[in-house]
Amino acid sequence: MITENSVWNTKTKAYAAEHDASRDDPSRKYILSFINAEGVKSILEMGVGTGIFLDNLADRSIEIEYTGVDASEKFIGRTLKKHPKANIIKHDFDEVLPFGDGQFQVVYARHVLEHVKSYKILREMARVAREDVIVVLFRPLTNEESINLKEHKGTYYNSYAKADVDALCKECFREYEYFAIDDNNQPAHGPNGRSWVLHCRK
Ligand SMILES: C[S@@+](CC[C@H](N)C(=O)[O-])C[C@H]1O[C@@H](n2cnc3c(N)ncnc32)[C@H](O)[C@@H]1O
Repeated sequence: MITENSVWNTKTKAYAAEHDASRDDPSRKYILSFINAEGVKSILEMGVGTGIFLDNLADRSIEIEYTGVDASEKFIGRTLKKHPKANIIKHDFDEVLPFGDGQFQVVYARHVLEHVKSYKILREMARVAREDVIVVLFRPLTNEESINLKEHKGTYYNSYAKADVDALCKECFREYEYFAIDDNNQPAHGPNGRSWVLHCRK
């Protein structure tokens, strides 16, 4: 649960600088090339941050039906300053998503799931997605037996157990794949990427 004292509301300026510096991160390029290749028409972004995904779309003139969700008023405010027409909803991922089943063609979350209380939010993401769910993880999944829930400055910084995530993915998706992304924006099936991607298909 995000509160006023959470880092997402108190350290917004520092995070904004960090997000800006990652504007051309390979994981950001992955979602953009996926949108282009598949002709994606609608997307739900979980955890908008400072709106870098919207910046990336605008820079490339990609027009898409966009909905964003975040619980931080500060981040939403910063994003709306740059993108005043963006449809962004204030909502906490500890609660059920306020959307219908299959409402979005693609659901996307980058560097968000390690910060929420439970990976079970994946179940909700699967429910509101029609086709794909793409999750970019900052931390690799572990071989531990279950989640290592670690509180960190009013948020979480979790390691997730691969066994738990596998079980959820088998329950919710037709197929799924994990990989790292290398500097050439290529899926690399080894530990040489900077971000880990979990790409699930319904
Ligand atoms: C590390 S930032 C990533 C932002 C963006 N996805 C990016 O890649 O630039 C994490 C984002 O998740 C949001 N967030 C964290 N926990 C949340 C929660 N429980 N409910 C809703 N949003 C949350 C934060 O406010 C922040 O915008």
